[in-house]
Amino acid sequence: MPRYDQLKNKILARSACVRYYQLETGRIAIPGQYWSLCGEQSTKDTSEINQLVRLGLIRKNQFYGVDKNRFLIKRNMLNHPMAHWFHGEWSDVIYNQADFRPSIVFYDSTGMMSTEQEKDTVRATLHLSPRGTFLFFTSMLNNPRRPSQKITEKDITDIYERISGFECCSQRRAVYVYHSTRHTRMIIHVFRKDH
Ligand SMILES: C[S@@+](CC[C@H](N)C(=O)[O-])C[C@H]1O[C@@H](n2cnc3c(N)ncnc32)[C@H](O)[C@@H]1O
Repeated sequence: MPRYDQLKNKILARSACVRYYQLETGRIAIPGQYWSLCGEQSTKDTSEINQLVRLGLIRKNQFYGVDKNRFLIKRNMLNHPMAHWFHGEWSDVIYNQADFRPSIVFYDSTGMMSTEQEKDTVRATLHLSPRGTFLFFTSMLNNPRRPSQKITEKDITDIYERISGFECCSQRRAVYVYHSTRHTRMIIHVFRKDH
């Protein structure tokens, strides 16, 4: 697994999401919770949680991290005991969490948003989120292991149409495109839930 706390492009991508939120809302800090598909959160300044605290977006106790990897969650608990950590499948965790009240969700996937499962995840997350939530959703634009698998502009428009047909979003657009590795381009979409 890449060291996401050291990848320059990843750090810039997170900054782009923070800047987007701050410009759109006029707020420096979020009023509620920040939910993340978290991976490992080290004690380095450039881990996601520490970067967001440094940018003034959150306090540590506003960070809610979910991962299906039990060992990463255990390590995160030791590294950042003031944050909230959940081991499990994203959809199960948020569905069973009575206190799911995000201001921001960072669904930092390494899949392609064209699959039905990923579209369902976006829809379910928006459905459970309160009004005004910003959902940032990362996905691959190409699959380096399967060169024929690519996402086109048309795929993206179709995905936006299908999602907003189900949940009302005033904003659904690409925020940022970057390389996670030399051969993998990633895109971050934002969805803002209206009602
Ligand atoms: C790209 S990493 C997260 C990086 C992190 N957000 C950061 O900025 O440092 C994605 C993580 O999501 C986890 N993951 C992927 N799909 C998941 C799912 N459906 N439910 C729970 N965890 C998942 C993986 O185990 C992996 O650790």
